[in-house]
Amino acid sequence: MAKIINGTEVAASVIDQVKSSASALQADTGVQTGLAVVIVGSDPASQAYVGSKSKMAKECGFKSVQHSLPEETTQQELLALVAELNADPTIHGILVQLPLPKHLDSEPVIQSILPEKDVDGLHVVNAGKLATGDIETGLISCTPAGSLILVRTIHGEDLSGLNAVVIGRSNLFGKPMGQLLLSRNATVTMAHSRTKDLAGVCARADILVAAVGRPEMVRGDWVKPGATVIDVGINRVPAPEKGDGKFKLVGDCDFLSCEAVAGAISPVPRGVGPMTIAMLMANTVIAAYRMAGKPVPKF
Ligand code: GUN
Repeated sequence: MAKIINGTEVAASVIDQVKSSASALQADTGVQTGLAVVIVGSDPASQAYVGSKSKMAKECGFKSVQHSLPEETTQQELLALVAELNADPTIHGILVQLPLPKHLDSEPVIQSILPEKDVDGLHVVNAGKLATGDIETGLISCTPAGSLILVRTIHGEDLSGLNAVVIGRSNLFGKPMGQLLLSRNATVTMAHSRTKDLAGVCARADILVAAVGRPEMVRGDWVKPGATVIDVGINRVPAPEKGDGKFKLVGDCDFLSCEAVAGAISPVPRGVGPMTIAMLMANTVIAAYRMAGKPVPKF
């Protein structure tokens, strides 16, 4: 039986530190940390995520601004909003919720965000800093940063000698996760949909991080006994056992069979999910400290 990594509890302690950092900055300099969240269209899952980000920003004592734009927003209109937020000195963090509607090109929008306000860590400047081993001066993508904190609760700061396998190679998660693990001296394998013998690759992992977007794909017999499993998937699947038309959230790992073999595992829900929002708040207060020229809190 694995230790269950309680993401809700770890996230709450990050949020406590964000709140005290934000209030100390305001007392010291008069600066209230500001976060702007932009959403285009009406996708219900995205609306729910964005709503909880804006709500948490308020709870942290931030100025929290949500821009909900209609589905038919043009590329120019979206770029104009980002430019306005870039120029607004009361806004320290800007997040454009992804995916954008199909007629919009997300890459130029993301790259138009000032790197110092890019609390998603997706700007090439921030991605490049991480890729070159600078984990101090940029902003790091929230879900990988939060996942690394969960790994730290089990293995501490230094992952020397440990094999880490990340399944998934997206810019939003897989690539930065691999680089963060590498920065902590893990021996990192980046696996993906074209990897040969994925099960065999996973079975060598002391730390297995799954971000494939396929419900319950990773089975217990892929897991090395005693390994730490970080499940980054959030999949909504039918749950007829809860009643007609009901759904439940499951991860990319088959929880029961993985839990039987792993040393520690993050569940879904209440694992990585709450860490993403907590690290968004952490990045925003970090950005506010930097803009105020103050020494930055460490998370
Ligand atoms: N959509 C799903 N996860 C994320 C995220 O971390 N950031 C943004 N901007 N959009 C997302």
